Amino acid sequence: MTERHDAVDVIRVKRDGGTLSDDQIDWVVDAYTRGVVADEQMSSLAMAILQRGMSRAEIARWTAAMIATGERLDFSGLGRPTADKHSTGGVGDKITLPLAPLVAVYGVAVPQLSGRGLGHTGGTLDKLESIPGWRAALSNEEMHAQLREVGPVICAAGSGLAPADKKLYALRDVTGTVEAIPLIASSIMSKKIAEGTGVLVLDVKVGSGAFMKDIDQARELAETMVNLGADAGVRTSALLTDMSTPLGYAIGNGNEVKESLDVLAGGGPADVVELTVALAKEMLAGAGITDADPAEALRDGRAMDMWRRMIAAQGGDVDAEMPEAPHVEEVRADRDGVLTRVDALGFGVAAWRLGAGRARKEDPVQVSAGVMLHKTLGETVKAGDVIATLHTETESRMPRGLAALDEACGGDGAIAIGDGPVERRIVLDRVESAI
Ligand code: URA
Repeated sequence: MTERHDAVDVIRVKRDGGTLSDDQIDWVVDAYTRGVVADEQMSSLAMAILQRGMSRAEIARWTAAMIATGERLDFSGLGRPTADKHSTGGVGDKITLPLAPLVAVYGVAVPQLSGRGLGHTGGTLDKLESIPGWRAALSNEEMHAQLREVGPVICAAGSGLAPADKKLYALRDVTGTVEAIPLIASSIMSKKIAEGTGVLVLDVKVGSGAFMKDIDQARELAETMVNLGADAGVRTSALLTDMSTPLGYAIGNGNEVKESLDVLAGGGPADVVELTVALAKEMLAGAGITDADPAEALRDGRAMDMWRRMIAAQGGDVDAEMPEAPHVEEVRADRDGVLTRVDALGFGVAAWRLGAGRARKEDPVQVSAGVMLHKTLGETVKAGDVIATLHTETESRMPRGLAALDEACGGDGAIAIGDGPVERRIVLDRVESAI
């Protein structure tokens, strides 16, 4: 087949700071997915995009071209509104677990297509797979049936959704081009738009444990994604939320399921509850429900009942106990004071090295590996108090897990004890679409 463009011409346009035409974008995304544009050509284009940026129109076209490489799901026949949440990834971020059933309490279907952890950020599917019997892979028919009959579904995205993104994301990962805002935004939004949700709430993380280290970058990413959603007719809003400190006390897989169950039982850490309720209100408002009190549905057991139905529908044993790791080390306070730093990146890397995360996509993760904080930012400690325990199924991983805490923050360490007080805001800002 004769190709209508040449990859080198397309690369040159962006390299020199020009604007790609709609047809160039359609072609290059499709040709890359077909294997006609080579990896080295696409990586060069991705680098040019990282350095030169893209206009709003270019990003919208790029996103549409990625969607066009695969299938689109359609939930219009469900007879209920649909709402989904996407987090840009963080440490201890288990919010999807209580959030999906909580929102479904109000009659909203929640098609939550989730991912696995890579690097120091955890993945929702890895966490849920700690529950014996639970299945992440559902067919489109099974997903539809669960949305209709139960309400919430958390499952893996099928391989048919935006296949261009799968290929491009893997390439960006190894070519230093993950951080390009147009590419992050189009990657996330191509999957979310193809998934067919009516309402989308983005949780854009800011801080050491997030992709976006400062609020201005995070706001730019949020605005780009919200505009893409609006252009595609999806009611989209974003919360910018703190990821300089882990969310909650549990970082790992099985321990994060346990902490989520505490939240669903009406307790749990205050920051996890605050963010779960804030995101639930945002999703419900998008679906036209403005008089709900999601905190009440956590306290009165309705969200827990919905969780049990959701997990059971996917084969999970809702009463299973999470296993304990055989190797545990304690980290203690060396002085009296207030915790003025509990660094998300340092603790995320520690949990990852202990076995909670994976180095390569195909690696298994450990159910009981991770970190349990006993104290967090702003709490008072006495010298000798246990601040954190590190857990692993593989003893030889422990020294590197402990070292991650010392190496954090340029060698200053993941933990600092000072005189306080420390103020922490969870929701830093909100960005809304014009439609
Ligand atoms: N998550 C995605 O799905 N894509 C990105 O590019 C970054 C985070």
